[in-house]
Amino acid sequence: MAKRTEGVPEPTKTPRHVAIIMDGNGRWAQQRGLPRVSGHKAGVETVRSAVEQSVKTGIQVLTLFAFSSENWRRPPKEVNLLMDLFIIALDREVRRLKRNDVRLRIIGDHTAFSDKLQARIVEAQQSTADCKGLTLQIAANYGGRWDLVQAARRLSEKVDAGLLRPDQITEESLSSGLSTAGLPDPDLFIRTGGEQRLSNFLLWQSAYAEFYFTDVLWPDFDAKEFDKALASFTNRQRRFGRTSEQTRLEDGR
Ligand code: IPE
Ligand code: IPE
Ligand code: MG
Repeated sequence: MAKRTEGVPEPTKTPRHVAIIMDGNGRWAQQRGLPRVSGHKAGVETVRSAVEQSVKTGIQVLTLFAFSSENWRRPPKEVNLLMDLFIIALDREVRRLKRNDVRLRIIGDHTAFSDKLQARIVEAQQSTADCKGLTLQIAANYGGRWDLVQAARRLSEKVDAGLLRPDQITEESLSSGLSTAGLPDPDLFIRTGGEQRLSNFLLWQSAYAEFYFTDVLWPDFDAKEFDKALASFTNRQRRFGRTSEQTRLEDGR
């Protein structure tokens, strides 16, 4: 039997890790003649439903892209409203997450956030740290390139301190410096809102993710739509470089 390449995820029917670019809030609101922020508020409700669905389905990790390192380029008013909404959502949802045994992690560069938001993030993470069910990662001020740069910095600090030789830098050691360290890579990568691009999300981690693009705008991405994405994943043959014949023989699919 062929050796499985290290770092390549195992084939599974239920994705262990689902990553979602939650796009289309602004257009959803505009279509209704509402301000963009109404779309973001409606989007928070969809987050709750996606979390419930993930718990029910037995997904281990759900990573949601909430604010990219490029989203600071939006009008300051929208950025401020998004930050306020983030604080409100943390205040409101943490108790429910705990009840559902959901461990919350916020990934991204928090240093750019207000002291108030940073404090809420620390509290929310601490209060759910012992939860053993779903791991929910919210990517906020996150960029895939930022993630790689900060991992490279961690490794070079170790080299500098004489703890690591350059030839000991491997895919595993680099992965262990990423914000997602210790978690499986995304199996299923969903983007709502019709665009077919990565927008600097989980660049390294998505090397072997299955992509699912849908025109459905994030606030409309309900349980039925989530199920469609999961069903599409079930029908994929993940070859990880092998031929389809090898995959059938080795994975039985
Ligand atoms: C995604 O929805 C949410 C964030 C980026 C914060 P958008 O706000 O990008 O919605 P559209 O793409 O303008 O419709
Ligand atoms: C990506 O959506 C980021 C989030 C969903 C948080 P954007 O709407 O910002 O992406 P672009 O600018 O269209 O690529
Ligand atoms: Mg968008």
